[in-house]
Amino acid sequence: MAANSSSPADSSSSPRPHTYTIGYAMLPNKHDTFIQPSFLDLAARHGVRLEAVDASRPLAEQGPFDLIVHKLHGQAWRAQLEAFSALHPDVPVVDPPAAIERILDRFTMLDVVAGLGVATEGAVATPRQVFVADAAALACDDADAALGGLRFPLIAKPVEVDGSAASHDLCLVYRREGLRGLRAPVVLQEFVNHGGVLFKVYVVGDHATCVMRSSLPDVADARLHDLAADAAAPFANISLLPPPAAGDVEMPPQDFVNRVARELRRALGLHLINFDLIRASDPDGDAKYLILDINYCPGYSKMPGFEPVVLEFLLEMLRNRPGHEQPCPGAGSGTGLSAEALKAEVEPSFIPS
Ligand SMILES: Nc1ncnc2c1ncn2[C@@H]1O[C@H](COP(=O)(O)OP(=O)(O)OP(=O)(O)O)[C@@H](O)[C@H]1O
Ligand SMILES: [Mg+2]
Repeated sequence: MAANSSSPADSSSSPRPHTYTIGYAMLPNKHDTFIQPSFLDLAARHGVRLEAVDASRPLAEQGPFDLIVHKLHGQAWRAQLEAFSALHPDVPVVDPPAAIERILDRFTMLDVVAGLGVATEGAVATPRQVFVADAAALACDDADAALGGLRFPLIAKPVEVDGSAASHDLCLVYRREGLRGLRAPVVLQEFVNHGGVLFKVYVVGDHATCVMRSSLPDVADARLHDLAADAAAPFANISLLPPPAAGDVEMPPQDFVNRVARELRRALGLHLINFDLIRASDPDGDAKYLILDINYCPGYSKMPGFEPVVLEFLLEMLRNRPGHEQPCPGAGSGTGLSAEALKAEVEPSFIPS
């Protein structure tokens, strides 16, 4: 394929013939998570075309692709990717299915945190949690054994994160009676008060953007002993709520965010993730950060200015393909475009007229 060599300065608003094709495989209801017109336009201006993969047909019969990005799971899809890679070893697949599968289980997804440098320095941790395989263990008088010393309030989370609505049905449990009626297998996690503010960190290769979101409000001790109030309260998709008013909330230091993101991404062997971070105050008033959740290939369209960041990452993957010697489209002198240069191209659309 012939590489294009224009720079952002000579890119016009009209798309030009594409030079590279990236196949993306995700459920149709996830397409708008980053396959937005603003992103497709920017990519087209840099000679990159995105083509939806039809997972019901052999991947090897589609394309040709220069890169595959995917967010599908399961044995059949994995077999498809393996067959494709055997045929096209030079076409990178972002990311390895085995690494993605490791974070589809809520109980084990956080294991990686304990091994991070930032964790050993005590700067980041995870809430204490247990895995309960059988709901009967929660219904009996001996539920304390299943709790393994966890203290209320607890958050009950379905073990599997499979993209279904049900996998986001969570429940805040204030006292023991609230455990009855939970479906197993379930992860029970200690609820940590954090001032009702959550930080979502979007990671795209070496880039990390932290945004603030609303979270569950703190739970006062008195609520745990209020027998007139519900013993448990189901909730879902709390992080889709509008963010709290900016100003009062101190954002986590960007250096810290970058470091956690970099270590997490390397330890997981994944390029495209986001993670949920809360800040709890310990009794000395020192900030303590906890990671609650890690997701693969999140909805980047909710990350401000995602287009140039995601495109620059994809261009970088294309540049670094095995056996690739030509500069990639939009790579100018061959040194590659910076995300800053790409950003300048889409920024006007963010300025209100
Ligand atoms: N241990 C915890 N302590 C305090 N708050 C928590 C805890 N776990 C979860 N939450 C709150 O519940 C929300 C949802 O939890 P989590 O992210 O694990 O589930 P999810 O299904 O992935 O939700 P989402 O898709 O909204 O991120 C978090 O964003 C946070 O507001
Ligand atoms: Mg989450």
